Amino acid sequence: MTGKRDLLDIRDLTKEEIYLIFEKAKYYKFQRKKGNLISDILKGKSIGLLFRKPSSRTRLSFEVAIIELGGNPIFLESGQLQISRGETIQDTARVFNLYLKGLVVRTFEHSEVETIARLVEFPVINALTDFLHPCQILADFFTIWEHRKNLQQVIVTYIGDANNVCNTLILASDILGVRINVCCPPEYSVSKEIIKKMKQPALLKINDDPKVFISESDVIYTDTWVSMGDEAEKDRRIAIFKKFQVNSELVKNAPSNFLFMHCLPAHRGEEVTDDVIDSKNSVVWQQAENRLHVQKAILDFLYSNKKE
Ligand code: CP
Ligand code: NVA
Repeated sequence: MTGKRDLLDIRDLTKEEIYLIFEKAKYYKFQRKKGNLISDILKGKSIGLLFRKPSSRTRLSFEVAIIELGGNPIFLESGQLQISRGETIQDTARVFNLYLKGLVVRTFEHSEVETIARLVEFPVINALTDFLHPCQILADFFTIWEHRKNLQQVIVTYIGDANNVCNTLILASDILGVRINVCCPPEYSVSKEIIKKMKQPALLKINDDPKVFISESDVIYTDTWVSMGDEAEKDRRIAIFKKFQVNSELVKNAPSNFLFMHCLPAHRGEEVTDDVIDSKNSVVWQQAENRLHVQKAILDFLYSNKKE
């Protein structure tokens, strides 16, 4: 396929393309609720899913999405491939190029998805790297859009570790013109690299006090303090992040209709307490459901839009 499109970074999409993906996701959600599951967009296409880290939602939502779009998902657990015995990722990508028509990749270093994408002729989708998680954030903004039509009037506050989810939330906010606050300890704050990538840095405010932005927040978002790959620092992180826990005391001054969001998996009792994640403000299950509809929309978009 010449002129193929990849989704490695949320900045691979324009604002208009993100809204096009939302419209497609809305269509797929509506169709699925009516019982219309199968489309033929991926008919005859085998799509690999190369995962170097665990996954529940991303893996399953992509597998179901590919099947319901008429394609054939092939799960490739990295420990079972020859890359686990030293075959290079470049040689592996060249082999994938001979068999597959697409690849969904979850890995550690972001440069690995870029390397694969350069070597294959089919679309490559980032299913999470240490740096970015674009499919997650598309589903998250789609969820916010379902609740609040005008995203430009929304203020999102992210509390916790300035990790891959936070990085992508910031870059997507920059594209969509959404105001974003990040409350994090100085040791784990937003990197200069991310701020440099923003076109509208005035949209971002950073503070190390988790209370400061609560009363203006339409959305309060958190994620684990110990991302996949950070396990060696677990005890240190839990001690540092303790005051960033999203609990009912912290959110008591939030607008009554604020949305609580979490990409999941949640570590209940760490970054969030049961009384918040199980509250009427929580939309975490809607976020998780929307992963499926948005994965379909992403696949539909990538397989029907080629670069000139
Ligand atoms: N939110 C998310 O990516 O979940 P999984 O790790 O289960 O895929
Ligand atoms: N920040 C988390 C997200 C998991 C979906 C991680 O990278 O482990």
